Amino acid sequence: MTRPALGLVDTHAHLGDPQLTAELPALLERARAAGVAQIVVVATTAEDSGAVTRLVAGHSGLFAAVGIHPNDAAQAQSDDWERVERLLDSPKVVALGETGLDRYRDRTPFALQQEWFGRHLSLGQERGLPVVIHCRQSEQDLIDQMRSLRRPVRGVLHSFTGSWDDAQAFLDLGLHISFAGMVTFTNKSLDALREVAARVPADRLLVETDCPYLSPHPHRGKTNEPGYVALTAARLAGVRGVTLDELVQQTTANARQLFNLPQDHIL
Ligand code: NI
Repeated sequence: MTRPALGLVDTHAHLGDPQLTAELPALLERARAAGVAQIVVVATTAEDSGAVTRLVAGHSGLFAAVGIHPNDAAQAQSDDWERVERLLDSPKVVALGETGLDRYRDRTPFALQQEWFGRHLSLGQERGLPVVIHCRQSEQDLIDQMRSLRRPVRGVLHSFTGSWDDAQAFLDLGLHISFAGMVTFTNKSLDALREVAARVPADRLLVETDCPYLSPHPHRGKTNEPGYVALTAARLAGVRGVTLDELVQQTTANARQLFNLPQDHIL
């Protein structure tokens, strides 16, 4: 595959995951070789938030999202939220998250997930930071909770897998929509998701890996890493009928605007 002229932004990578941390220098080198310029490293717990904040401080081109994932919220300690709040003052923290709602896994009672999601939304609004939103079988719950705020929400619905109606509701709320490796899978059943990806307005579209999970085709089943975002970008370009360079230019501009990423701070 040809390397895109402008650098890609992987807007969602869990580089704090031990599978990835173990081989970080090689993985970042491969990402650079694949045309990735910047990576938003997303945390899942207060401890991970501290770790990713330290990680991004030491690497050009890496930025952090700090927060507590809905599946980890039940395990959160009493001072964890204060720990996350304090980290917002660290350099290169560009977003809050990963937050959201998950009806697929029941590790955290749903009402408690909603409470934590509400906290992230309020703090994001207060601090002028975008929110990184996880959704698993909870599209309507997320839409209802955000609509009740009666204001636009700045952020991204990450690794989107819903319907066009869901996408429209998230777009109406003000969110960006990010696609991960699933759009590259060869299953016919994913044509519906590709159709949604084709319809998202160009100025709201983002790409990501969500590594180490869900590697794009042809790496499906193996550990995912930021360099593979180029495969998802190429598939999205095909689906949308634009060149890879056009797709990269648009999604990188969107990511830089949403996360306020400096152009000269790259891998
Ligand atoms: Ni994630």
